[in-house]
Amino acid sequence: DFGRTADALGLKVFAVGGFVRDLLLDEPNLDLDIVVEGDGIAFAEAFARDHECRVRSHEKFGTAVIVFPDDFKVDVASTRVEYYLEPAALPTVETASLKLDLYRRDFTINTLAIVLNHGSFGELLDFFGGLRDLREKAIRVLHNLSFVEDPTRVFRAVRFEQRLGFDIGKQTEHLIRSAVRMGFLDRIGGPRLLNEIIHILEEVRPFPAMARLEELDLVKFLHPALKIGEETGAVFERATRALHWYELLYTGKPCSEWVVYFLCLIRDLDADAFQGICERLGIPGRLHPLFTEQRHLAQGVLQRFQAFARRKMKRPRNSEIYQWLLPLDTEVLLYLMARLESEEARSWISVFVTRLRDQKPLLSGEDLKVLGVPPGPLYREILEQLLLRRLDGEVVTREQEIDLVQ
Ligand code: CTP
Repeated sequence: DFGRTADALGLKVFAVGGFVRDLLLDEPNLDLDIVVEGDGIAFAEAFARDHECRVRSHEKFGTAVIVFPDDFKVDVASTRVEYYLEPAALPTVETASLKLDLYRRDFTINTLAIVLNHGSFGELLDFFGGLRDLREKAIRVLHNLSFVEDPTRVFRAVRFEQRLGFDIGKQTEHLIRSAVRMGFLDRIGGPRLLNEIIHILEEVRPFPAMARLEELDLVKFLHPALKIGEETGAVFERATRALHWYELLYTGKPCSEWVVYFLCLIRDLDADAFQGICERLGIPGRLHPLFTEQRHLAQGVLQRFQAFARRKMKRPRNSEIYQWLLPLDTEVLLYLMARLESEEARSWISVFVTRLRDQKPLLSGEDLKVLGVPPGPLYREILEQLLLRRLDGEVVTREQEIDLVQ
């Protein structure tokens, strides 16, 4: 239907980028990007009128997002170059501006386009050898200045390489190493660098990409003290399992995957290095308590759990596990699971998440009033004690709780 709208307006419209790449690779991809030769915003508005969609447009960039009733979104871009090019001077008028638009992109495999207009619907346009590189499983830039123009592409190259099981081409790897040597990566701003790291940590298997960053000597741009070795691999592996386990619990409480992996990544950094990496990446303020106080608490829990597991002591009491783990967010709990080699110690955390975390005493403040306890801070203390005893199985019924209070 995009084709119909475009035909009616006399515009050419194409599906481009990651969507086309993944279509040809038979990989799932629900992010449809389309490019319109001409006014993309007018196109998006006309399409939305006919299909009961909403449009959010950004005049300044000539872009729009078409939002379908079920919240499916399509990004629309305009080939800006068309406005100041002399059409007659170009050999293929219809696709010249598309070609220039695609030339600005990162890798050849992301430059493929498919015509959506009715007459030639489905026709594949391959200006820069993208199809060949898909076949050869190669990540290649379009020109030698690609990483200079946008050094974040270095991280994108590694991410696509590892996700797709491709190889970064020889010349492209050479350009990456030059960009590193010439200091271009120091110019990436904190939030943009963090954004790339988040994308990597949210891949299905983030470790191979991290290991490849290490191999290309790119990890130092996060922090010189950061090292990715075999142990990181084992910790990431357990983090993946913990995240999967948590997902299958369907708790309804969301958990940010990259935060879990990031905690794994920085597990051995001392306070100064930790401060340094937070500053370099501009870690948002809302995450500071999690990365500072909670991380510190988690370190204490880790040592206690490891001591229990090592000395084959009796497991900690439920009430102890509860008190140690209660201040920690889910991300930090899963990080702890990733750090613990002992399966038994990991089970103490899973018991907390599945059985202890949401327990409440049977009696309420109202009940305490009826029992004649004078109102005040004592209430909280009594209810907490009741809860801890319930967790340890010392009281089970309401009657037992009443007995205890009396
Ligand atoms: N792009 C680029 N340089 C960047 C970021 C993006 O050239 N630094 C281009 C890429 O060609 C990409 C397009 O913009 O195809 C859209 O970017 P994005 O949505 O990040 O890429 P996808 O290929 O869709 O990646 P993913 O599959 O991870 O969503």
